[in-house]
Amino acid sequence: MSLAKDIQVTLTDLESKKHILLIPTDMNLNLMEAIRIHELPIKATCGGMALCASCNIRITSSHKLPEMNEEEEAMLDEAFVLDEKGSRLACQIKVNPTLDGLEFELGELTRS
Ligand code: FES
Repeated sequence: MSLAKDIQVTLTDLESKKHILLIPTDMNLNLMEAIRIHELPIKATCGGMALCASCNIRITSSHKLPEMNEEEEAMLDEAFVLDEKGSRLACQIKVNPTLDGLEFELGELTRS
């Protein structure tokens, strides 16, 4: 049996302050939930159902993430952030070991 390890990601908040987050990979978390666990402000009104876009982030590292599903793409489009480079919904990104070292910024829509 192998021990799941934490990953480390770097979040830049809306005041341009960087936060290093250690996130367990064995709790089936998505990135929005991981941000909340660290008590950082992210609006995330719909609670992770791809219905609000208030968990919008921009990936700034060169990680290759899974393609977005239709719901995520439609919501980013509706919120006028689909064309922003690296724009994703944090609630639709499952935490897994391949995200180690990920860097991202909170989008303006996350402001409470
Ligand atoms: S929390 Fe609503 S779309 Fe992610």
